[in-house]
Amino acid sequence: MNCDIMKADAYKIVDDVYWVGVLDWDIRDYHGYSLNGTTYNCYLVFGEDKVALIDNVYPGKSEQFWGRIKDAFEKEGREFKIDVVIQNHIENDHSGSLGEVVAKFPDVEVYCSKKAEPGLKNHLPELADFEFNTVKTGDSLDIGGKTFQFVNAPMLHWPDSMFTMLMEDGILFSNDAFGQHICLSERLDTDVDPVILTEAARKYYANLITLASPMVGRKIEELASLGLVDILKMIAPCHGQIFTNPSFILDLYTKWSTGSYEGNKITFIYDTMHHSTQRMAYAMAEGVMSEGVEVKMYFMHDDDKSDAVTDVLDSKAIFVGAPTMMNNPFPGIGDVMYYLNCLSFGNIETKKAVVFGSKGWAGGSARVLAANLEGAGFEVVEQKELDFKPSEEDLEECYEIGKKVAQMIKD
Ligand code: FEO
Repeated sequence: MNCDIMKADAYKIVDDVYWVGVLDWDIRDYHGYSLNGTTYNCYLVFGEDKVALIDNVYPGKSEQFWGRIKDAFEKEGREFKIDVVIQNHIENDHSGSLGEVVAKFPDVEVYCSKKAEPGLKNHLPELADFEFNTVKTGDSLDIGGKTFQFVNAPMLHWPDSMFTMLMEDGILFSNDAFGQHICLSERLDTDVDPVILTEAARKYYANLITLASPMVGRKIEELASLGLVDILKMIAPCHGQIFTNPSFILDLYTKWSTGSYEGNKITFIYDTMHHSTQRMAYAMAEGVMSEGVEVKMYFMHDDDKSDAVTDVLDSKAIFVGAPTMMNNPFPGIGDVMYYLNCLSFGNIETKKAVVFGSKGWAGGSARVLAANLEGAGFEVVEQKELDFKPSEEDLEECYEIGKKVAQMIKD
């Protein structure tokens, strides 16, 4: 198979280990997640006997990848031959070019988890008869002075996901876990303002890891019990910056997965038809703020659900508002409600919730919103529906609801 190739540089992480990934500067939507570019990180490890590639890239995105691989081989002065692929995950932003690698190097050995094999064969029909080497926690592979130890990591973030530790260098190749969807010209955590890095990791966690929160602490404990935390020097995920300070991201994951974040915050998520529900939201927000509690507002007419849920992650309560339309919540709120149910924030903690909205006929929006939020693991503590436009008294009552719930959640 002939592959397109773009002149591009490999980035040396430590001796014999290179980043050979792809910078996708232009992606703005990744299955519903809004982003401003991302990277598909892959790594090339030069052992004395063999060369191993860890993960690969989207189909059609491989010309940078091949350019960087070529550059890494030239820098090392080695024969251009990949002997081993470690495929940590099957989603095609990390496996889509495996067929190109196998076509170029037919003798290559591919290592993956047992759960990954059928997925890879499904995604890549050209490999339907290929013999994969399936590995599990505790298995290892020596390529000559470089030893990989494998750790199954199911649901971090897919059932097939796997971590690979490069023992001599203390680098954990974690695939999607610990990633961030950002695309910068530099590769390391130390190249970025920690606030920007934390924000990118927080959004990534909220949207991609929340469901697996109960597994996060257990996996970190397992890594420790295997002796891998003691030797850990770097975490190299498949998206975003490489952590030269692993405790930075491990501490954040511990915090987010257990709901042990600092501060008091309430996130509002709402839509409106004729501004009545919007005015209720504003009045409730005033009440929340009167208690010194931070407010984040998401107007779903324009705002993005992946941003809204990022603030839900470290909020102690959410206020969800939608007017009634034909006995149900106004559809503008439907996408994010569906998404809250998918993410299962109740896996982390039971956050409080308030539902509200205006109605013209019989109402019903608040009842449906409350049932949906209870099903998603929230505790609904207040419901407020009103007819048509809020009166001054209604707005005062909204203010008091905001104040009351803020008092409930304050440390
Ligand atoms: Fe599970 Fe970055 O894909």
